[in-house]
Amino acid sequence: MGQDGRTGATMGKKYWIGDVRSGSHDGENVELKGWVHRTRGSNKIRFLVVRDSTGIVQCVAKRDLVGDECFEALKNALIESSVVIRGVVETTEREHGYELQVTEAEIIGPVNPDRPFPITESAMEEADGGETEFLLDNRHLYLRTSRMTTMLKIRSSVFGAIHSYFRDRDFIEYQAPNFVAGAVEGGSTLFEVPYFGKKAYLTQSWQLYAEAAMPALERLYTMAPSFRAEKSRTRRHLTEFWHAEMEIAWASNDDVMQHGEGVVRNIARNLLEERSEELESLGRDISLVERYADSEYPRMRYDEAVEILQGKGVEIEWGQDLDYSKEKVLTADFEVPHFLTHYPRVAKPFYHRPDPDDSKYVLCHDLLAPEGYGEIIGGGERTWSEDEILERIDEEGTPRDPYEFYIDIRRYGGVPHGGFGLGVDRVCTWLAGADHIREAIPFPRDSRRVTP
Ligand code: 4AD
Ligand code: MG
Repeated sequence: MGQDGRTGATMGKKYWIGDVRSGSHDGENVELKGWVHRTRGSNKIRFLVVRDSTGIVQCVAKRDLVGDECFEALKNALIESSVVIRGVVETTEREHGYELQVTEAEIIGPVNPDRPFPITESAMEEADGGETEFLLDNRHLYLRTSRMTTMLKIRSSVFGAIHSYFRDRDFIEYQAPNFVAGAVEGGSTLFEVPYFGKKAYLTQSWQLYAEAAMPALERLYTMAPSFRAEKSRTRRHLTEFWHAEMEIAWASNDDVMQHGEGVVRNIARNLLEERSEELESLGRDISLVERYADSEYPRMRYDEAVEILQGKGVEIEWGQDLDYSKEKVLTADFEVPHFLTHYPRVAKPFYHRPDPDDSKYVLCHDLLAPEGYGEIIGGGERTWSEDEILERIDEEGTPRDPYEFYIDIRRYGGVPHGGFGLGVDRVCTWLAGADHIREAIPFPRDSRRVTP
């Protein structure tokens, strides 16, 4: 990002380390504001690597240039102290091509030597509960490390790409309540919350309330948290995740899939434009992201997927939904994301529309990411006539009461419509090539952790 994008910065911050590193202040006198990332040196010279949100740069302080007082202050500045440093940008043969010859410096927020910054390599090795738990306990501090900062930037670009995809196509951003009276995705993952002497639930999806606004807005989308009481801890489940959902009137399963493919390609394209450097720094093979940005995503019926899996010796019965272990096997050899369509009616919730050609199936789709990542989108056509929705609710054995508003949508001018939900954290995990979904969200929530 160029300096232009950051004018009007707070507290008079004018210079950014990223710009210094890209050579745009060569030879200039600048003032950097940041945090001490690494520090070493002797009684005469100190090398401080300083970090801000845009990068790191080495600052060289010589005692005879900065004076004793400043030199002592810098010597005592521990890792993660905040500093203001002034000096001249010089080219160097060292690591990044540029460094700062310090003329003046101030420690703004010192770190107490009795409580040094806890995230160090030796602390991670010694951590009782293992490195992962140690880093999760210190998540609020771990956010400052380059791996997490990089992930958060990638995540921001993913959010931006989703907003721009929908807004560029005249979708209206629309918000649904998070306290709800009923399930969307089945009762087993509902979070119950006491609600003034009654019971309420945290929403699993914006969908049912989006359908209520479908006759008003026709094309709508959201990005919001959804909640699932997932008891088992896996690489791809959070109890609170970010859900990008869309709903569209006068649309078939096929129309909805086109948007699913479109938004995922737009995310990949946007990452290549904005975050190639970050992806590379995480070790991601950029050519894969390029492929996901440019290819068409093939479609396959559920039955075909079951045959492939059976051919690979996976035990699966027709009618079962595909869990992670099965999707992992299925997608391991995929080169690009694939849509799986026409799941058995018994495998999917009541809102999916039965296929008029064969009502054993529903007109739905899951988009499965390759490389073993599995499901990133679930969506389809909705049951839109009153008779059919009542039949589906009754066959699930769900009480009608909490869904009266939903049935009403069909009683007053029902139309064919559909939509999907995309797991934003899962998409970040996949496109960044991370091993675990918790790497892709600042404060991951699972069945064992709500802190920090
Ligand atoms: O397939 P799901 O359950 O579909 C729905 O919720 C629909 N009501 C969406 C719609 O049509 N508007 O969830 C959609 C996506 C999944 O494909 C997955 O990417 C993500 O949400 N997801 C999760 N991500 C992280 N942690 C979890 N526990 C998730 N559960 C679902
Ligand atoms: Mg699903």
